[in-house]
Amino acid sequence: MVGNVAKTKTDLMRSIRDEIFNFKDSPLYAERAGNKVFPVIGEGSHDAAIMFIGEAPGKNEALTGRPFCGAAGKVLDQMLGSIGVPRKDVYITNIVKDRPPQNRDPLPEEISAYAPFLDRQIDIIQPKVIATLGRFSMKYIMERLGLGNMLQSISAIHGKIFEAKTSYGSVTIVPLYHPAATLYNPELKKELQKDFEVLSEFSLEK
Ligand code: URA
Repeated sequence: MVGNVAKTKTDLMRSIRDEIFNFKDSPLYAERAGNKVFPVIGEGSHDAAIMFIGEAPGKNEALTGRPFCGAAGKVLDQMLGSIGVPRKDVYITNIVKDRPPQNRDPLPEEISAYAPFLDRQIDIIQPKVIATLGRFSMKYIMERLGLGNMLQSISAIHGKIFEAKTSYGSVTIVPLYHPAATLYNPELKKELQKDFEVLSEFSLEK
């Protein structure tokens, strides 16, 4: 009765990983060739109450296959630490799973190519809170979850709380500045810190 055995979250995540590794039609697949780089699928708890969604892997991420493990990742770790949330208890991923050349902004066709994987990851994890990191994931998630009419610039809506409906129930969206944007901007870093305090009000229990 193998066909009737319900797939676990881990099985479903493994299928996504395998599909992304074999995603030869991706506009960014050629970037992997000869560069000893990997797609970055995501990392953390499959039962996470909070899911962080960034933009696309940078150099360190593509070399290791892990999200937010470079300079921006240090900021993210620092912010998580400041609200007492262990990184292993959240789930961290990006919309685009391969590194755009020279870390340029992801193109609309790259976002559309990879977004279905992100949608499936959200359905598997069923987070209570989605924290978007930067304007690309903010725009994608808000439009995808029917909040397109509330979209404004990230400087206007960072740290605000939006409620949306998904196929598995309601979810809270909190747009955040991208940690990389705060690296050389102490004022933005203070804003990100305040916004993490908003996040800390949500229980990690599901
Ligand atoms: N920036 C992102 O958006 N994602 C990462 O994983 C690293 C840097």
